Amino acid sequence: MRKKIVAGNWKCNTTVPAGVELAKAVVAAVNASGDPEVEVVVCPPFVHLTSVAAEVTGSRVRTGAQNCAAEPKGAFTGEVSAEMVKSAGAEYVILGHSERREYYGETSATLNKKLAQAFAQGLTPVYCCGEPLPLREAGSQNEFVKKQLDETIFLLPEADFRKLVIAYEPIWAIGTGKTASAAQAQEMHSFIRGAIADKYGRKVADEISILYGGSCKSSNAKELFANPDVDGGLIGGASLDPADFLGIVNGFKG
Ligand code: PGA
Repeated sequence: MRKKIVAGNWKCNTTVPAGVELAKAVVAAVNASGDPEVEVVVCPPFVHLTSVAAEVTGSRVRTGAQNCAAEPKGAFTGEVSAEMVKSAGAEYVILGHSERREYYGETSATLNKKLAQAFAQGLTPVYCCGEPLPLREAGSQNEFVKKQLDETIFLLPEADFRKLVIAYEPIWAIGTGKTASAAQAQEMHSFIRGAIADKYGRKVADEISILYGGSCKSSNAKELFANPDVDGGLIGGASLDPADFLGIVNGFKG
């Protein structure tokens, strides 16, 4: 069954104590009035994971990492392996975020290694894709996103592919306050689901959660989530505000 998911990507924000407080506030808000049909995930920085996972234990909130190493272990100074992330309590891992691709040179080849590490540890990858503004303006967004999928997750065997979550994040909408319109989001999500159906069959395509990311807030979540192919959101800025984040979690309610 296709899951509704709202995941908070805290990026490089909050100290450890502030992150634990934020997790506590998210748990309280979700417990009090969060839509029970929505899987809620928080993705703090690596060093917060153990404390945040402990804080959310016993609640409906799940924990994810924002990245993991491409190698399983060894002499890779500064890297954090999928096994470490898993042992810290994470269940999800965001992979292929545009900021990782753009600022840290992550290529499809790197991502394929990271995906393999995530699957080996039983983590659920939240695989990000999305086009930059010039490609959207040129009308080539579908070709661009399809190429990202072809070079990475479409190389996976079906058994792994089915465990993925996909996040469509148009780069021009991330942190800019500029959201894709509900129609633009639906159009791309439906294109991605169609591409999955071509590759893995309709049944697999219907079961994959495709999240929208890019300036999603409580004020626009309802409109975005009302689309038949939008199964939730990957939330940056608004995930740092528990009330705004709760509003997004409840974006599916009529
Ligand atoms: P934003 O970020 O909500 O701040 O635009 C989304 C993301 O990058 O995951």
